[in-house]
Amino acid sequence: MDGQGIDGQGVDGQGMDGRGADGHGVDSRMFQQTAHSPSYFELSRRMGEGGRRLIDFCVPCNPYFPTPAMFQRLAGNLENVLKFYPSDTDTIAAQLARVLKLNPSTVVMSNGSTELITWMDHLWVSESLAVPVPTFGRWTDQPLETGKRVDMFPLHERDAFELDVDRYVAFIRSRGSRVAVLCNPNNPDGSYLPRREVLRFVDELTDLDLVVVDESFIDFVDAEQGASVAAEAAIRPNVVVLKSLGKNFGLHGVRFGYLVANPGLAAMMRRALPRWNLNSLAEAIVFMLDEHRAEYDESLRLLARDRFSMGVELARMPELSVFSSQANFLLVKLADGIDGGELRDHLLSRHGLLVRECGNKLGMSSQFLRLVVRPPQDVAHLVEGIRAFLQSRRPAAERRDPAVLLRSLSASGGERPPELPRPRSELWPSRRRG
Ligand SMILES: Cc1ncc(COP(=O)(O)O)c(C=O)c1O
Repeated sequence: MDGQGIDGQGVDGQGMDGRGADGHGVDSRMFQQTAHSPSYFELSRRMGEGGRRLIDFCVPCNPYFPTPAMFQRLAGNLENVLKFYPSDTDTIAAQLARVLKLNPSTVVMSNGSTELITWMDHLWVSESLAVPVPTFGRWTDQPLETGKRVDMFPLHERDAFELDVDRYVAFIRSRGSRVAVLCNPNNPDGSYLPRREVLRFVDELTDLDLVVVDESFIDFVDAEQGASVAAEAAIRPNVVVLKSLGKNFGLHGVRFGYLVANPGLAAMMRRALPRWNLNSLAEAIVFMLDEHRAEYDESLRLLARDRFSMGVELARMPELSVFSSQANFLLVKLADGIDGGELRDHLLSRHGLLVRECGNKLGMSSQFLRLVVRPPQDVAHLVEGIRAFLQSRRPAAERRDPAVLLRSLSASGGERPPELPRPRSELWPSRRRG
């Protein structure tokens, strides 16, 4: 991307043709309409040609899976996939359970994990639900929309948004919450609670109506092996593990996810869900997974590598603080005085880069961006775009061209170039409770 990725844009996001508030055919107010980001399709439609060249750092999608060969196979089979009814949900869920080595009576599949959040609220949240914030917006909005009390436990920047289990349990007790939620790793910060801490948490709360562990990003964890507590949920009376498949399989558009719970809870959910809630594309993919296990594992390895190098690249900019993450995104905080909304609009209009500015997320502000982990060549564009924005915001005297910089260096002895900031230690997956 050369800064001219989107047609018809002018200097500093002012459109040459006057389209939209930011010159890229997109009114930036659309980023504030809900707690979520505008869809890629909506943005593309509004941006015309330019939308097709966007690099998406917003939707947390695995860029290495499915492989091009898998997409080719799917495309070759598209006519059949679209023409025929899918099998019933139990058949598809049983195959997924086989692949994941889970007992099929404990697995329920859905049209995206959001469908399960909706139904969990209808079935099992009768009065109140506790959830740490910031987090995925549906965990606060869904129960609020149905008139429940939502007890929000604040996660703090000073703790790097890490959850303290004892303090969260004490909070749940003090509020008398009947349902508790824990996202691990959490969205938008990517902080990760070790498996034994999650088990300690659920075992402290056996008297609650329900404890949900949302593991939608758990496959990206490399801090420990076997991070999921799904098998443990299946043998507990009140624990549900939730999992979105769009993120780790890189297929948000398919809309599939599942829960794992004891057979009684699972059966109750199965009865509530609409029949044929899964489509044939979801079925085709689930039945492909077994033979592509190696490619999937490789995609996770590449992603963890990219997460590390992307964190290092971003942390080189002194205006950015990068939080440690075990998910497929990095939360960054901008230095005081830098507005995330302006940076988002600049990146979109001048560089064709879509980022998630967190101003409309409860417990966050527009000083935070969530940046999806992408391959190094995409990150190079992102770094270039952020640097250009920061440069354009500096007072003119500070915007030194190389000649001015050289002169000032030789005036001060000149032999040493300015020191590169070292990557920060918080980039490494260290946990205080490790
Ligand atoms: C923590 C978490 N859970 C669940 C979801 C919902 O995922 P989907 O409905 O696409 O499966 C999201 C989406 O971003 C999420 O961040």
